[in-house]
Formats: sequence, structure tokens, C-alpha cells
Amino acid sequence: MTQSTDAPARFRVPFVDPRKAYRDYKDEIDAAIADCLENGDLIHRRQLFDFERDLAAYTGARYAVGLASGYHALFFALLAAKVGPGDEVVTVAHTFAASISAIVHTGATPVLVDVADDFNMNVDAFEAALTEKTKAVIPVHLNGRSCDMERIMKIADARGIAVIEDACQALGATFRGKMCGSFATGCFSFYPFKALGCYGDGGALITDDEAVAKMAVRLRYNGEDRQTGEFHYHGYSALLDNLHASVLGAKLRHFPAWVEHRRALADRYRAGLVGVPGLGLPHFEGAEYRDSYQNYAIRSDRRDDLRAHLSKSGIETIVSWAKPVWEHKALGLGSPDLPETLRICRAVLSLPMSSETTPEQVDLVIDAIRSFPR
Ligand SMILES: Cc1ncc(COP(=O)(O)O)c(C=O)c1O
Repeated sequence: MTQSTDAPARFRVPFVDPRKAYRDYKDEIDAAIADCLENGDLIHRRQLFDFERDLAAYTGARYAVGLASGYHALFFALLAAKVGPGDEVVTVAHTFAASISAIVHTGATPVLVDVADDFNMNVDAFEAALTEKTKAVIPVHLNGRSCDMERIMKIADARGIAVIEDACQALGATFRGKMCGSFATGCFSFYPFKALGCYGDGGALITDDEAVAKMAVRLRYNGEDRQTGEFHYHGYSALLDNLHASVLGAKLRHFPAWVEHRRALADRYRAGLVGVPGLGLPHFEGAEYRDSYQNYAIRSDRRDDLRAHLSKSGIETIVSWAKPVWEHKALGLGSPDLPETLRICRAVLSLPMSSETTPEQVDLVIDAIRSFPR
């Protein structure tokens, strides 16, 4: 999602409101930033390590490694799984391009499969896509909802395939009480408009495997082991900056409450929108799932008209994504036959949903949708 810069001023209900998000926690955020600046802690310092400790504790993983972006987390997780040229990696087409680019940049071939009606990997399609060359699978927990990690882990374990969870949209979501990202190697994004966002690019990898964590720690610092000074790889400049880590650390303390806030807003949307003709709501079956609602993504049989109607009513919405990723021909992804992905591209519409969105704003959205002429 890219920012529409004047959105909070133009819309009665902006999709997100970074100014309000800052003002609501200004004292804590300012103090976190001042702590870095006054101590000269800019790169690879205490605030980064504190955040990593707290993120590991929150997700239940043994290690968390702060990185420059969610993309880097995916890429390093693939490198740690020794994915490279000649290998295949299965993932979904209905995801942000970075999930797929991370595969391409290892030299491996992405194998794109369809999603189910909850926007997440169709596990039968994953199973059908396995070949002798399959080295890894990237389930993407889209919109703050877990994939079926029990089935995916079972299939992957039986075949000796690495699992790399794209949890960039799913911090705080759980499956059978276990955090998304903590089933295997988990990847998070702290892009500003993620549920936990910093003020630029940021990400993290979580793992229980010490060797994976160590490799990511070295890769992010150009391959260097900071303790010994030895360079182990041709690495990357891909650290999570200290300033971002300090802000994330301050925000993480509030994050569990923000997840509850999002879940309450989702319930409010459901109560207000259930039964509206032509709409599909993102409340899916399964007591084992606890969604964190990074996005409240509905389906509409007249998506573009509804979106225009909402915009006229002062409500900002986002479409992720109108064009299937393989239709971006420069990416060289062929022409897979993925009917559910296509259906979603035609119908999906994300409504305002953030920690700063208020129940009153949700009511305005509900009223506007209900007033959409059929
Ligand atoms: C599903 C998914 N995967 C990967 C990414 C990449 O994260 P980042 O933008 O931090 O590189 C994102 C973030 O936009 C995402 O939503």
C-alpha cells in the first residue's frame, strides 16, 4: 500500500491517519527517539537489541532479527534455507510482489498457486504443485489471517521442504493459539502502514533456529560477525535502524491492545454490513483462527462503483490488488490459471482499518455502504 499524501485532510475517514497515530502516542515516541539521539545510538545499538528481545517474547520465538524490510526477512530466510538456482519455491500469486521477488533474487523459480476464499494459500493447490525440485514454501498470512499452518507444516515436514512464513501482514494473528510467524521462519514488515509500523522501511525475521538467526544477523551487516570482525558472506546493508527500532519498541507495548481494537472494529463492520446484497465479508470459518485484521478486505460485485461512491462520501479505500501479479509482464511470471485470485482482483476492497480508526468512523463507512444504490 502506498500513501496518498493528503488523505487525512481530504477524507472524513482516511484509510490510515499517520498524524493521529503519532499524536496519540507522541510523548512515548518522542522519548524513544530522544533516547537514541541523546545517547548517539544510531546503528546496531541497545534500542535494536531491546526491540528484538521484546519481539521474540511477544511472538514466542527464540530469536528475532531486526532487518531493513519485510523483503529482506523473506530473502534472508530463503538464503538460510539454502534456496538457490534450480530450486522451486511454492507461494501464492495473491500477495505483494516482494514475496515473489525474494524467491527470484535467490535464483530459484517461484511456483504460483491459487488461494482459497479467505485469500490465503489453497493447501490442496500447494500439495498439487510439489515436484522433485520444490525446496521451500512461502505461505502468506494475508490481511492478518493465518494460513492453515497445521496442514502446511504436515505436508512440508513429510517432504522435507523448508517453510518460510510471510507474516508481513499478520503480526499478532494466531492459529491454534500460536503466533503467525512462529511455526517456522517468520517474516514481518514494519512499513509505516502495517499494524506495527515505523517511520520508513523496517522488518524482522523470527526463528527458533540459532543458525538461521546467526546467518541473518551477519547478512544484514554485510556478512560480518560483529563480535569477531570476520566476514562470513558477501552480505547486505540491511539493518533495522536504531531510531526505527526504538519507535517500534515503544509501540510494541501497546500492540496487543491495538489488535483487540482492530478485532472490535471488525466486529462492528460485521454487525453493520451483514446481509448487504452483493458484499462478502472477511469473517471466515474456524475457531482455531484469531485474525488480527491488518486489513478489513471485503468483496463487492460492483467494487469500482462502490469505491467511487465511498470516495464521494469522504471515505478512503484501497484495492489490493486489481491487477494479478503475473499480468505485470516485466516480472516474467508466465500465465498461471488461478481463478480465485482473478475473482478476488475484480472484487476486493479494503475499508479503513487501523489503530487510530474510531468506531464512529466505522459507522460512517457502514452508513455510506448501506446508502450505495443497488
Ligand atoms: C504480504 C507482504 N509480503 C511482503 C511485504 C514486504 O514488506 P516490506 O515492504 O517491508 O519489504 C509486504 C509489505 O508490504 C506484504 O504485505
